[in-house]
Amino acid sequence: MSTLFTPFQQAKIRFRNRLGMSPMCMYTAVDGQANSWHLAHYVSRAQGGAGLILMEATAVSPEGRISPGDLGLYHDNQIEPLVNINQMIHEQDCISGVQLAHAGRKAGHAKPWQGNAALYAPDWPWNRLAPSAMPFDEGEPMPRAMTEEDIDRLKTAFVDATCRARQAGFRLLEIHAAHGYLFHEFLSPLSNLRTDSYGGSFENRIRFLLQVIHAVRAEWPAEFPLWVRISASDWTSGGWSLAESIALAKRLKIEGVDLIDVSSGGNVAGAQIPIAPGYQVAFSEAIRKEAEVATATVGLITDASQAERILSDGKADVVLLGRPLLQNPYLPQSWAKELEAELPLPKQYLRGW
Ligand SMILES: Cc1cc2nc3c(=O)[nH]c(=O)nc-3n(C[C@H](O)[C@H](O)[C@H](O)COP(=O)(O)O)c2cc1C
Repeated sequence: MSTLFTPFQQAKIRFRNRLGMSPMCMYTAVDGQANSWHLAHYVSRAQGGAGLILMEATAVSPEGRISPGDLGLYHDNQIEPLVNINQMIHEQDCISGVQLAHAGRKAGHAKPWQGNAALYAPDWPWNRLAPSAMPFDEGEPMPRAMTEEDIDRLKTAFVDATCRARQAGFRLLEIHAAHGYLFHEFLSPLSNLRTDSYGGSFENRIRFLLQVIHAVRAEWPAEFPLWVRISASDWTSGGWSLAESIALAKRLKIEGVDLIDVSSGGNVAGAQIPIAPGYQVAFSEAIRKEAEVATATVGLITDASQAERILSDGKADVVLLGRPLLQNPYLPQSWAKELEAELPLPKQYLRGW
């Protein structure tokens, strides 16, 4: 019997299987609003059999977008276009979740197919915000070190976006604290040089994230799961480490976080990452065992038996797929066949298979 296709329960939410779509920016929103691209893209992956659609990094404020094409939940007019998408995903017996994000010093870049370069006024009229005035890399924009007022404003922005996510019909919320974006910048001693209560010690570096999680958990309904994506390592000596990730995971669990979505890297330009099949699974396994919290694993998981083994060996509770689901929305159907598991097709397609 396949573990990958065994239902999974968190809070009041039942996932039909343990194979989810990893958040992936589509760079296609206009003023943060979803459109027919997002409808077709996300709903087709739900039709393809994923148990969870985790929508792309969705900004809590305009200056927190990675690109001008990011989704946002910083304005009430961004709610309505998501309602229909979420309803259609849920009609497929698939759970729809959203990843709330602030890109920090890595905000404000052109879309990949427009060259990825940093944008400046008038195309990007906002200051980049970060724990410390330190650019991500040579030639990258200098961010402004956040004041306590900025920190308070963003806490409110995360809570307001959480409230909009609920109104939009999402049933799972993930906070993006990975990949060198704002929260990760606070966590890592390589990007956080603050001398106030938000910098220095481990306790101080995790403070901003914990405060936001505390406030978000109070707003997000108890029956819906709250997840946090972290980078388990900066892959750089002196940087954020697996040991700190385990300690953070224990604290997040106490705050009511239901699952740690374990990725890595993104905060140090030029870090040497030993990319290989399942290269982040060991981080998930360690966090799951040491912090006794549910985990998701992601990264170069490309075949059914590999995914199945990760779960049956107890190295994660959920497998997330990124690029494989860009290539083939019906991958879960193929994998279910391969693993001889039940995965009902949309009834409209029964005659095709
Ligand atoms: C086009 C693209 C966009 C991405 N956008 C995000 C994002 O919005 N949030 C995030 O946490 N990760 C993002 N990622 C990383 C993926 O979620 C995933 O962790 C990564 O691609 C590794 O998984 P894979 O090997 O299955 O693709 C993105 C990846 C791709 C390819």
